[in-house]
Amino acid sequence: MNFPVTRLRRLRQNETLRNMVEETILRPADLVMPLFVCPGTKVKNPIKSMPGNFQLSVDMMVENCKELYDKGVKSILLFGIPEEKDEHGLVATHDDAIVQRAVIAIKKALPEMFIIADICNCEYTTHGHCGTIIDGDVHNDLTLETLSKQALSFARVGVNMVAPSDMMDGRVGHMRAALDKAGFYNMPVMSYSAKYASAFYGPFRDAAESAPQFGNRATYQMNPSNSDEALREIEQDIVEGADIVMVKPALSYLDIIRRTKDTFNIPIAAYNVSGEFSMVKAAAAKGWIDEERIVKEILTSIKRAGADIILSYHTQEIIDKL
Ligand code: PBG
Repeated sequence: MNFPVTRLRRLRQNETLRNMVEETILRPADLVMPLFVCPGTKVKNPIKSMPGNFQLSVDMMVENCKELYDKGVKSILLFGIPEEKDEHGLVATHDDAIVQRAVIAIKKALPEMFIIADICNCEYTTHGHCGTIIDGDVHNDLTLETLSKQALSFARVGVNMVAPSDMMDGRVGHMRAALDKAGFYNMPVMSYSAKYASAFYGPFRDAAESAPQFGNRATYQMNPSNSDEALREIEQDIVEGADIVMVKPALSYLDIIRRTKDTFNIPIAAYNVSGEFSMVKAAAAKGWIDEERIVKEILTSIKRAGADIILSYHTQEIIDKL
């Protein structure tokens, strides 16, 4: 059918009609808010490169979560800044570690809050890499042990989901087996399956104090040039038992989200990472963009590409505007 029989503008002529044919609808339930917990009491350190985000001590985190929950944020992703670090990240494997204490306190005050624990070692190692270093590189199989220990501890303190973000081979299967063996067969695993070695994580590394002290993460995170490889990573994680697969970052990788959606039949998460957030904030602060419209457009585009779940620092400000 061609013009003039077909006129695509017919369905755009008023708002009710436009809404009727709207294809992608962003819902509060799609969004997850990442948060950073730090030692001390009454601490609320602004994260300079991420306006509106803070490192919060456990007491302040609980207060913050209550406010967020009232606003409609039902799901959070927790990161930790520990008192001390060690070579392997073992500080994060104990039930009284910083994030675990936050989980216990939040669950006590707000049992309904859905808490996701990021599973990785980079915030907990002295060298800032995501695992145990042998001969100058992260040793895959030794790192699986610390990751699974961390996941088990989070299961014990009551998180609702674990999310390994380390990019070691075999971590989903290793973690699944460890969780099942301990009776946590119902603990969902949301795997950061296709996680790229990206410059968009810059502000996060300030926030979580997790920048690598030497080298970079290119031996474990993916090369931004690759797309076929992302599908192999995702397939591998599905085979190992991942319940949800994630693509990260989101905006420069919308094509990867779409290929994942077209190829697999599994829920997809996408992480709208710190650099993507901070660029919007910086431009908005200069008055160069309309922040609310831009944020809605960005999050909608991530969903339209195929994501079911979006992790975003914009969540706390946009959730009650949807
Ligand atoms: C930990 C982790 C990182 C992010 C989430 N989990 C940092 C990294 O890999 O360096 C980045 C999140 C963001 O930039 O918002 N491995």
